Amino acid sequence: MSLKNIRLEVMQAIEPKVQGFMNDFLVPIEKIWQPTDFLPNSQEDTFFDEVEQIREESKELGYDFWVTLVADTITEEALPTYESWLMDVEGVDQHSGKDNGWSKWVRAWTAEENRHGDVLNKYLYLSGRVNMREIEITTQHLIADGFDIGTDRDPYKNFIYTTFQELATNISHKRVGQMAKKKGNTLLGKMCTIIAGDEMRHHLAYREFVKTIFGQDPNGMMLAFADMMKKKIVMPAHFLRESGSEISSAFELFSNCAQRLGVYTAQDYVDILRKLNTYWDIGNVTALSEQAEKARDYLMKLPDRLQRISERMQFNEDQYRFKWVEANGML
Ligand SMILES: [Fe+2]
Ligand SMILES: [Fe+2]
Repeated sequence: MSLKNIRLEVMQAIEPKVQGFMNDFLVPIEKIWQPTDFLPNSQEDTFFDEVEQIREESKELGYDFWVTLVADTITEEALPTYESWLMDVEGVDQHSGKDNGWSKWVRAWTAEENRHGDVLNKYLYLSGRVNMREIEITTQHLIADGFDIGTDRDPYKNFIYTTFQELATNISHKRVGQMAKKKGNTLLGKMCTIIAGDEMRHHLAYREFVKTIFGQDPNGMMLAFADMMKKKIVMPAHFLRESGSEISSAFELFSNCAQRLGVYTAQDYVDILRKLNTYWDIGNVTALSEQAEKARDYLMKLPDRLQRISERMQFNEDQYRFKWVEANGML
């Protein structure tokens, strides 16, 4: 049987379980938080005072912080790219006529994710600290540019990617929230922390999908995992650019900011990989083919190898001036 057919069979075999995953890892729409819960209520007379408070508090936050928050927001705002990509994955069938569990999952996941960009965008707008028009141009560029995360339409590779990426966003939103709180920005702190909570649930779900696939097709899953790690997990906003600039030109500059600020670092990448190796217990997967054994070896050794590389890594400390954020002299 071809690789593609095996994957389709595995996806179909797991499909009846997806509703259970949704119950376990997603929150019903009527119960989950909404952006408005964390923003000034524009129907109340207190609105302007609350906005004033946001604007005052936000003066305590420095340049790298704003750049990171802006890029995090833009990454969330490019959700149309992610939904259309996932809908196209082998086995995620929205056209079969019956209610396919996988396509239901993708829609429900998208619906939860959509609130992240929504709340952050409104906060940035109210803060008065950023150039919204430049941010909007970058967002439009990023959606128009799309992305290529090296997963093709392969569900195994895509679920490795999403497992990894959801944990990465959990880490970065959580740290941004902690920094905001420390500087007295309670509202922003709460916002980022609650987003981080969503990302964690999503991470746990995708991690479970991969674990289930390991149970069904250990060889295929191991090879897909190794293949993704060989290519490296690229960030969803790797095509980031500012107005008037070349595709991808802003991504590294932003990564330097996040690294310098300690919001998402090379060390985090290594830590995530270690966690995944442990959770999927790849050291104890049995009856592997020779090729999959080699892939496992590679994965087992990879965290230490990356650790050594990350310790030698040098980052550019120069502060680049982004069009999104006007300098206020604070780092
Ligand atoms: Fe998100
Ligand atoms: Fe997410």
